[in-house]
Amino acid sequence: HSIAWDPVAAAKGDYRHFMHKEIDEQPRALMDVLRGRIDQERGLITLEDLRLDDQDLRRVRRIYAIACGTAWHAALVAKFMIENLARVRVEVDYASEFRYRQPILQSNGERDALILTFTQSGETVDTLAGMEEARRQGVPSVAIVNAIGSQAARLADGGPIYLHAGPEIGVASTKAFTSMLVAGYLFALRLAQAHGTLTPAQIREHIQALVELPGKAAQVIEQVTPVCVELAERYYRVGNALFLGRQINYPIALEGALKLKEISYIHAEGYPAGEMKHGPIALIDEGMPVVCIATRDHIYEKMISNVEQVRARHGQVIAIGHEGDELLAAKANHFIGVPATLPLLQPVLNVIPLQIFAYHVAVLRGCDVDQPRNLAKSVTVE
Ligand code: G6P
Repeated sequence: HSIAWDPVAAAKGDYRHFMHKEIDEQPRALMDVLRGRIDQERGLITLEDLRLDDQDLRRVRRIYAIACGTAWHAALVAKFMIENLARVRVEVDYASEFRYRQPILQSNGERDALILTFTQSGETVDTLAGMEEARRQGVPSVAIVNAIGSQAARLADGGPIYLHAGPEIGVASTKAFTSMLVAGYLFALRLAQAHGTLTPAQIREHIQALVELPGKAAQVIEQVTPVCVELAERYYRVGNALFLGRQINYPIALEGALKLKEISYIHAEGYPAGEMKHGPIALIDEGMPVVCIATRDHIYEKMISNVEQVRARHGQVIAIGHEGDELLAAKANHFIGVPATLPLLQPVLNVIPLQIFAYHVAVLRGCDVDQPRNLAKSVTVE
């Protein structure tokens, strides 16, 4: 007799869903995206497939980052990394907007622009069209991409930067997202190296933080899961949720909201916390969970006052903060603690509880977590 063997079920192992498996694979993925690219001793970044040398990179004075969905959130985070570390201007666009707006990529004939795309599949139609537009205008492109040999990898004349995250099956992106953030960071450091905005000694410190990141991600998964499960049980019946963050954590608020709406069908919005008073505050009442990302950085105090404002309207604050932050824990209804890393890397850790929360909410609502209704893993037609 023959034994029925389903390769997809086999790949899932003991997990009920690919998304859960892929969340848990993040520490490994964060190690794989770093492999062979960091030289701790010399303070040096090497991106093996990049076809732009130091001279080419020095010429880059502005970057157009284009992507869709979760990858677009990665591009928004990368803007902070690149502008801060390499002092090169970055403009972020949805690929579907970029391709139809006749973007002015070169106005001065200086050939100082670069297109940077983020795409897990490397097959998203709008992202590819954006890259083709760049090619028409003679602007080089680099693709931060997971799928080896995909269209985006091949279209990128400046070379791909592969995530090496392995196959991602769950429609809602998790490990590809955090790997994209680290790949974006590596690219920012590589650019800083060429532009001389960071010394090798400084790059060494960044490398140290990168090396510690996979272990911290593992710690987050272990630490936050019980509280995320508890919060999911408490809030899975709500109709709306709000996610607030500022600066580099604003895209993480967007991503937390996207994860929740994609897989649980709860209406969720991500907002820059400073804009709360210009609209969303009208929605807040005792039934509204408001996730506030408030790890300590230069706008921590501002986030604290946003937390107070939400509480004053009787909103239920779920705060993501640094472990041991008793001030934040006392002000919020619920507190989720994560370890600290460099502020520019903190989004990698902050997003993990949001993924885990969304996952458990979706499971409790009985949703098809890996294949949400109406969504595709890769949007290859318009
Ligand atoms: C779809 C997927 C998302 C993904 C987006 C961009 O909407 O459901 O998870 O973020 O496409 O895909 P890409 O492959 O370009 O990263």
